[in-house]
Amino acid sequence: MPEIATVISNRPIASDYRHLILSCGALAASARPGQFFQLLCPQPVGEKPFLRRPMSVYAVQADPCRIEFLYKVTGAGTRGLATLQSGDTIDVFGPLGVGFTLDRQWRHIVVVGRGAGLATLAPLARAAAELNIRVTAILSARRPDLLVSVDLFQTYGADVIGVTDAEATSGPANVEKVLRALIAQDSCDAFFTCGSARLMRVQQRLAHEFGIPGQIALEQQMACGIGLCYCCVRDFNVDGEIISRRVCWDGPVFDLAEAMP
Ligand SMILES: Cc1cc2nc3c(=O)[nH]c(=O)nc-3n(C[C@H](O)[C@H](O)[C@H](O)COP(=O)(O)OP(=O)(O)OC[C@H]3O[C@@H](n4cnc5c(N)ncnc54)[C@H](O)[C@@H]3O)c2cc1C
Ligand code: FES
Repeated sequence: MPEIATVISNRPIASDYRHLILSCGALAASARPGQFFQLLCPQPVGEKPFLRRPMSVYAVQADPCRIEFLYKVTGAGTRGLATLQSGDTIDVFGPLGVGFTLDRQWRHIVVVGRGAGLATLAPLARAAAELNIRVTAILSARRPDLLVSVDLFQTYGADVIGVTDAEATSGPANVEKVLRALIAQDSCDAFFTCGSARLMRVQQRLAHEFGIPGQIALEQQMACGIGLCYCCVRDFNVDGEIISRRVCWDGPVFDLAEAMP
């Protein structure tokens, strides 16, 4: 059910990125890593974002109940979000969708994210730490100042490797080299990824070669967010058969091996 949450803060953290912290009810604060909310964005002057906008949970806290989002300002909806001030209210609908799952047997997972995808992966590092699973996070962005959630990953005890376009370290070849080194050190029981089709393909190849499981959080334009309108359907390759699934309802987290670019 939608609920009205109150803005605690909504501050810029890098060019185009903002960190929104809301006071909310217990249901919203029960969100799991990889789940998302449909946010009813305020209307910026002269624009009308008609539909709710999907946003992954970046962090949650119980007692007092809080939910956090890290978002990139890209269009009318997120420009509306950027206008929120402390004390304002916002209608949030969620938590929605199927999030990440962690296997207690794993000792070390590798998380690979790019751009706004880093926001989706950050709470996974906290959930892994709670299960004593080590995390190596390979975070990719255009520039070092856009590696927006490094601090949060490190707070949760993750080893962070930043790769950027500006330093020519974010290409698939270099990321593959880093991943192969982690696999050789027996430091990769599972892959988790979001935000880059190129990096997804690298992980799919290595996952297949070394028999490593993986999960991917997909971003797809959405309307209803609850499985009714079928506007978020994507194809998946399930043992050679092409299957259509709704990203909002069946995901947004899927088996890495089945995802198609
Ligand atoms: C499950 C899920 C979780 C997400 N989590 C986050 C998050 O944590 N942080 C964050 O910054 N963004 C996240 N996104 C993307 C976010 O929903 C879009 O950036 C937002 O809806 C854009 O709305 P807008 O009105 O500002 O821009 P629009 O004017 O609607 O679009 C601006 C540009 O962004 C593209 N776009 C719009 N919607 C999406 C989308 N759903 N996925 C990819 N590209 C899109 C458009 O094609 C266009 O080029 C998530 C998307 C999904 C589906
Ligand atoms: S957004 Fe309506 S079915 Fe997914």
